[in-house]
Amino acid sequence: MEDVVLELNNLHTHFFTDSGEVPAVDGVSLSVHKGEVVGIVGESGCGKSVTSLSVMKLVPNPPGKITEGEINFKGENLVKASEKRMRKIRGNEISMIFQEPMTSLNPLFTIGNQLREAILIHQSISKKEAKSKSIAMLRLVGIPRAEAIINEYPHQLSGGMRQRVMIAMAMSCNPELLIADEPTTALDVTIQAQILDLMRNLNEEKETAILLITHDLGVVAEICDRVVVMYSGQVVEEGTTREILKDPKHPYSKGLIKSLPKMHEREQKLYSIPGTVPKPKMDRIGCRFSPRCEFAYDRCFQENPELYPLDNNRSSRCFLYDEVEGDVTEHAETIT
Ligand SMILES: Nc1ncnc2c1ncn2[C@@H]1O[C@H](COP(=O)(O)OP(=O)(O)OP(=O)(O)O)[C@@H](O)[C@H]1O
Ligand code: SF4
Ligand SMILES: [Mg+2]
Repeated sequence: MEDVVLELNNLHTHFFTDSGEVPAVDGVSLSVHKGEVVGIVGESGCGKSVTSLSVMKLVPNPPGKITEGEINFKGENLVKASEKRMRKIRGNEISMIFQEPMTSLNPLFTIGNQLREAILIHQSISKKEAKSKSIAMLRLVGIPRAEAIINEYPHQLSGGMRQRVMIAMAMSCNPELLIADEPTTALDVTIQAQILDLMRNLNEEKETAILLITHDLGVVAEICDRVVVMYSGQVVEEGTTREILKDPKHPYSKGLIKSLPKMHEREQKLYSIPGTVPKPKMDRIGCRFSPRCEFAYDRCFQENPELYPLDNNRSSRCFLYDEVEGDVTEHAETIT
């Protein structure tokens, strides 16, 4: 499709460690269109950050390596792009808000200096104009005393303030794709809502495509058009936010949504999916969710499910949706 900004095609990013090969991203395919906000959700360790760092080609190598697949950005396969080309793309056509802000702020330069430089790379305006623009951007992300803050260094700011500076930097270059990895986790609820508003404005006014990584389904409901659910390095379900939140198909997505705190309901104890995300392993046999799945049956321990297509561009990596399977109805009945 013409308006596809990012398309991952069977992406594999593996780590080569002393204890063996770790397929952290294990055949991920997804796409983000112009003007679209796509969320990646899943518990800790399922490969969300490694997927986003792969797009920026920022996975540390060694031990990490993209071993297979394509990252098509506006038709160009970034897997094949040189580091020189990537430096042009990063912070220009693709911006990223990292989970840990210190990774993208330079401790040796003031906030003002870094913001101004980021603006000057992309816009031919005077230094003075860039300075006023920096102050305006800082105000926009809710930073008080912006005139004073531009003279401070990253370590002088709180974690939440640094996160907002990074968001200001990422947005100031009008990227075509913004990747935000847990952009609001460290922030309090009020600031979180402001940041989500800012991202939504950027998306609506400039048609910026956004790939938002979060474990917070509340954030997803706020801002995402579509959701990709990841588990143990793979996509297990994909669909519109509305469909996935209202009627999740994959047993893992069902568990995630069941564990959301419900408004208007004073539940004593929140549901949580029993067990934990397994460490990614090579050549694993059986559905990765089977040790935790309440619907698992014999086939789940012997074969690996594919991502089965459902109606309305939805898909689910679960045998219960494999229509070829003769006994699908019998098993599918268990989850309806
Ligand atoms: N440098 C590394 N060496 C080996 N394994 C790694 C390395 N970095 C990440 N991994 C593994 O890759 C998997 C995916 O990690 P990732 O950071 O992408 O998870 P995540 O979904 O972003 O989790 P979180 O919600 O905690 O941020 C994990 O099993 C992790 O242990
Ligand atoms: S394939 Fe089997 S174990 Fe995996 S999610 Fe579906 S029912 Fe559960
Ligand atoms: Mg992460």
